[in-house]
Amino acid sequence: MSETNQPSKVDKHAVHTAGGARVGATILGAGMALPKTVLTNADLEKLMDTSDEWIRQRTGITQRRIAKRELGETTASLGTRALQAALDDAGMRPTDLDQIVVATITPDMPTPSAACQIAANLGAGNIAAFDLGAACSGFVFALNTVDALIRSGNARNVGVVGADIITRHVDYSDRGRGTSILFGDGAGAFVVTGSDDPDTGVLARAMHTDGSRWPDLFIPRADDDFPADFDHDGHGVDINCLHMNGRAVFKFAVSTFGDLIQETLDKVGLKPEDVDHYVCHQSNKRILDAARERFGLPEEKLHINIDRYGNTVAASVCLCFSELKAANRIKPGQLVMFLGFGAGLTWGSSLWRL
Ligand code: ACO
Repeated sequence: MSETNQPSKVDKHAVHTAGGARVGATILGAGMALPKTVLTNADLEKLMDTSDEWIRQRTGITQRRIAKRELGETTASLGTRALQAALDDAGMRPTDLDQIVVATITPDMPTPSAACQIAANLGAGNIAAFDLGAACSGFVFALNTVDALIRSGNARNVGVVGADIITRHVDYSDRGRGTSILFGDGAGAFVVTGSDDPDTGVLARAMHTDGSRWPDLFIPRADDDFPADFDHDGHGVDINCLHMNGRAVFKFAVSTFGDLIQETLDKVGLKPEDVDHYVCHQSNKRILDAARERFGLPEEKLHINIDRYGNTVAASVCLCFSELKAANRIKPGQLVMFLGFGAGLTWGSSLWRL
């Protein structure tokens, strides 16, 4: 954080310290931003050999949003709109932020980061701003990072954004049909601030990576990025296109997702029913249904909105939470478990008391 950083002008969010460190963290605001253009399963039927029935049965998706540059929809512009909405929800101004952390694997340019662009778009001034890349686990990894920064006294009011335009990397032809039907674009954001209640913030976290599994999900930039044994048949336009071993990722996700919930509960001695909301990365409805069944969770505890947005990579967890908050279903004191898994392979959780 910059030495010249301006102090927050919002008294109620003033720095809380215990021996120099903030003692709790709270999610004060949430917001989201979606591209205008809706791409339905019926639209996809016109582009490739697929059907609405196949997509709904295998994935639970009926439509997704896709960003268009000609409409000014970029990762930074969607992230900016989402963070402004989160600031409005929190009753704060951009200049009240001292850090912006953006989870993304699709920044508009290699540099500057999406976080720098968002800070500039908002007029946030001289603050710390950086991107964090962990694909579909990115927003959960960012929440754990931001909670630690706040508790250690290294941040005060943080804008946490999940934003991706993954449809830049999919192929809407027959060759890409196993992957392209899953994905959509979007952005979500939280404003996380220091709190004087030590029982708020992250109670338990898990962050995992198995780097040896990277060939299951990757976006090559050159021919020699491909794994040596890669089978090019049946894949989408090769360079710059997301390649996914769907069956392998599906098997990994079904088992890992449930194990991750159990691992996180065990860290704090809770039972599945003790958690008020499970806010999960939305990659396939069947993966989420398997977790619901394993833990006997009702629909109102494990949320699903993949039908409307598809898999929006780093945005999906915050889109889901933002919708719950806007619907007034998020209350102070509740326990919320955020869960993500994706390319890397990566997987992680963040259990919050609000
Ligand atoms: N329409 C119709 N048929 C299709 C389509 C389509 N869009 N796509 C594939 N098929 C066909 C295949 O060609 C295959 O035909 P065949 O049996 O004649 O060979 C058949 O359907 C079955 O294909 P599978 O790939 O085995 O289908 P599966 O049931 O595994 O569903 C899916 C595919 C939906 C991609 C699934 O594997 C999945 O969801 N995987 C997990 C994806 C995921 O969770 N990713 C998360 C991370 S994303 C990130 O981190 C960026």
